[in-house]
Amino acid sequence: MKEDTIVCFENVSFSYPSGSLAIESLNVNLPKGKKIALLGGNGAGKSTLMLLLNGILKPSKGQLLYNGESYNYNAKALRTLRSNVGLLFPEPDYQLIAPTVYEEISFGLLNQVKEPEEIRKIIAKVLVDFSLVELKDRPPHQLSTGQKKRLCLAAVLAMEPELIVCDEPAANLDPMYADKIFNYLNTLNKKGKTILIATHDVNQAYEWADFIVILNEGKVLTSGGPETVFNCENTLKQANLKQPTIINIINSLGLDSVNVPRNIDGLNALLKGRLSK
Ligand SMILES: Nc1ncnc2c1ncn2[C@@H]1O[C@H](COP(=O)(O)OP(=O)(O)OP(=O)(O)O)[C@@H](O)[C@H]1O
Ligand SMILES: [Mg+2]
Repeated sequence: MKEDTIVCFENVSFSYPSGSLAIESLNVNLPKGKKIALLGGNGAGKSTLMLLLNGILKPSKGQLLYNGESYNYNAKALRTLRSNVGLLFPEPDYQLIAPTVYEEISFGLLNQVKEPEEIRKIIAKVLVDFSLVELKDRPPHQLSTGQKKRLCLAAVLAMEPELIVCDEPAANLDPMYADKIFNYLNTLNKKGKTILIATHDVNQAYEWADFIVILNEGKVLTSGGPETVFNCENTLKQANLKQPTIINIINSLGLDSVNVPRNIDGLNALLKGRLSK
């Protein structure tokens, strides 16, 4: 295992009790401190991989290593693992358990053995960051889907886990909040946290991620930097994915560029530069 790896999957397989083999002989190293996007079609195994990552599921074969140490599934080790690996579920209703928004955020923090004053400050900050101040005394199940999603994210991110795993973080969020969430994730990444998101949005993944993993039928189809992974149209098709629009435009206009732009501003600058020649 490489030193700059946070979690290593070694030949991991997982079957659900129903018998469906969701992850098959999977080997992948998740690079530490990076922004990683996990892509793949419906049923490719993304959510299962994420549940394996924070120990909710245990491999049927193979093992996972966290910072070089094999996962241990006893209750104490799992508590430690889960304060290091925070998981945002795709469906908020699976995650929400407390009677109020405020208590939902405090729940994980109380397990982290922090002083009450520190907990109070952290909660006050995330309530503002996620626009939940007005909702703080409301029961979570009375919130809208997008508000619930924001609350789930607030509860996970408040704990500042080393590895933040988000299953479809922007699903059900309006564009403004989706941007806010990604900005928040970027801030945490700048503080050294590793972020892994599962998404179907190739444009978002191309613009945001440093490292891409594409799953297909429970196996890694390809992984690497976004420019390389997204340039291979056939591999993307195999995984029910499309090429990001920016790469598509660059290729169809026959623009060869040393640095392929990663966002619309970069594309605009490249096109303006070419048109003015
Ligand atoms: N609770 C479950 N019981 C039995 N099989 C399951 C269960 N959850 C998922 N599976 C199966 O495991 C495989 C992988 O599913 P998973 O949910 O990990 O895919 P995914 O990549 O997250 O898909 P999506 O993009 O639809 O969210 C699929 O074949 C699915 O039918
Ligand atoms: Mg899923």
